[in-house]
Amino acid sequence: MSVTVVDHPLAQHYLTHLRDATTKPALFRTLTRKLATLLAVEASRDLRTAKTPIATPLEEVWAQVIVEPIAVVPILRAGLGMLDGIVDLFPDVSVGYIGLERDENTAIASSYYQKLPDLAGCLVFLVDPMLATGGSAVTALQGIYAAGADRVVLLCVVAAPEGVRAVQESFPQTRIYTAAVDRELDARKYILPGLGDFGDRLYGTL
Ligand code: PRP
Ligand code: URA
Repeated sequence: MSVTVVDHPLAQHYLTHLRDATTKPALFRTLTRKLATLLAVEASRDLRTAKTPIATPLEEVWAQVIVEPIAVVPILRAGLGMLDGIVDLFPDVSVGYIGLERDENTAIASSYYQKLPDLAGCLVFLVDPMLATGGSAVTALQGIYAAGADRVVLLCVVAAPEGVRAVQESFPQTRIYTAAVDRELDARKYILPGLGDFGDRLYGTL
C-alpha cells in the first residue's frame, strides 16, 4: 500500500487556490477538474500497454497503445467535481457512481446509491476529494471490490492521516494519490488546515 503526494508545482498551485476561502464555486470547479487530471496522470503511469504496428508518413514502426480498460467511480456528491478531469484523459472510461453522505454529528457515512459497471480487469479510479476519517472511502472500496475490481487507485485532493490509516488497514492493496496529507481532523472530523466542506464549496451550498 502506498500514498503518493503529487507535488508537481501546478498541482500545488491549484490546491492553494482550492484552500483559499475566497475562491468562488466557478473557479473552485475549474481547479478541481484540472487537479483531478494531474492526479490521474500520475496514478496511471503503470497502465498496461501493447505494441502495435503503425505507419508514420515516413515508415512503419511498432508503437504503444493502452490496452487496459479503465473505470472511474466518483463518490457523490463531491467526487463528481473530479469526474470530468478523468474523462478528459480517458474519454472511453466506464463510469460508476457511489452515493455516500456523512452524518453531520457522528461523521459516519451512509450509502444512498450505488451503480457500478463490471469492474473485473479494469484499473479503477475511485475519486473523492476529501479523505477525512476514511469511512466513506472504506465503504466505497467494499462495494468496488465486491463488484469484481482487483486494481483500485484512490484519488483525493486532501487526505488526513486518520483516513490514510483507515484505508491502509482495510484495503492495503489500494494505492492513494493525493495533493496533500494534512495535519489532523478537528472535533467535527473536518480536515485541518483542509479546505472546508468540499461539496458545499463546489456546489455553492454553504
Ligand atoms: C465528504 C467528502 C467525502 C467525505 C469524507 O462528503 O466528499 O466523501 O466527506 O469524509 P470521511 O473520510 O470522514 O468519510 P459528504 O458526506 O460531506 O457529502 P457530499 O460530498 O455530498 O457533500
Ligand atoms: N468532508 C469535507 O468536505 N471536508 C472535510 O474537511 C472533511 C470531510
